[in-house]
Formats: sequence, structure tokens, C-alpha cells
Amino acid sequence: MIGLNGELGAGKTRLVRAIALAAGVDPAEIGSPTFTLVREYRTALTSFPEAPPLLFHLDAYRLADEDDYLNLGPEEFIETGATLIEWAERVADVLPTDRLTLTLAATGETSRAVVVRAGGPDSRVLRDAILAEFSHDR
Ligand SMILES: Nc1ncnc2c1ncn2[C@@H]1O[C@H](COP(=O)(O)OP(=O)(O)OP(=O)(O)O)[C@@H](O)[C@H]1O
Ligand SMILES: [Mg+2]
Repeated sequence: MIGLNGELGAGKTRLVRAIALAAGVDPAEIGSPTFTLVREYRTALTSFPEAPPLLFHLDAYRLADEDDYLNLGPEEFIETGATLIEWAERVADVLPTDRLTLTLAATGETSRAVVVRAGGPDSRVLRDAILAEFSHDR
């Protein structure tokens, strides 16, 4: 579970698309318009025992409240893949505590700063892997 925070236009959707592409999702699918609250992508990742895992993309800005989120059946997201949720803080009370939180901020026309936080042991593993690869002093 990965929560994406950061103000309007910070680049949350753009980052989700980049992650989906990197996971081998068909680019045609990524750009296609949708009226559903949850986008569901099939990844091409093979490094998992039950391949290929799914990638779910939600925007909590389109949800009225926590019940709206719970009605989407989030157990399925957690059991079958990874979930990226924009504006996660709006439904933070019903998200798993052990999640990764990425907070984006624009630092220029084409640059973004990302603060990476972990809420528990599983997400700490992810955080450490991300920081090992991308961390740099500003
Ligand atoms: N790293 C980046 N470099 C350059 N442009 C970017 C970057 N990230 C996002 N943008 C551009 O900024 C605009 C807004 O990005 P995006 O839609 O991803 O923001 P968002 O955080 O999802 O906003 P919202 O809160 O409305 O969902 C888009 O035009 C996008 O192409
Ligand atoms: Mg967005």
C-alpha cells in the first residue's frame, strides 16, 4: 500500500504512470480514460510467487469519505497486488498503518522532491530500498 500526498499538480498521477510503466503495464491501458474509481492494471512482474501481481490506482479525492473507500473492497487490493492511492491522507484512518507514504513537492519546472515515510516493518523494507537507490542531498 503506497499513499501519495502533495498538493494539486504535485505529480502524483504522473508518478503512478511511471511506476506502472516500470512494472510492465501496457502503455495504452495507462493513458486510457476511465469512469471507474479504481484503475486495475496487470503488471509484467515475475519476481513474485503468484505472478503477475496487479496494480491498483485510486484517487481518494474522488471519494466522499472512508466508507466510500471501504465499499470498494480494499481487501482485494491488499491480497492481489500493490495499491497506489492519491490523496491518501483523506482516508488515512482506514488504510493499513504499515504503508509507504510518498509526499511530493515541486522544486522546479521538471523536478520534484519526494519525502518517503514508512509506517511499519514491511514498508520500512521498501523505504530503505528506495532510499538506497535514489537518496541524495539537496
Ligand atoms: N516530475 C515532473 N516533471 C515535469 N512535469 C511533471 C512532473 N510531474 C508531474 N508533472 C506535470 O504536472 C502536471 C500535474 O501532474 P499530475 O497530474 O501528476 O499531478 P497530481 O499530483 O496527480 O495532481 P492532482 O492532485 O490534481 O491529482 C501534469 O501536467 C504533469 O505532466
Ligand atoms: Mg492526480
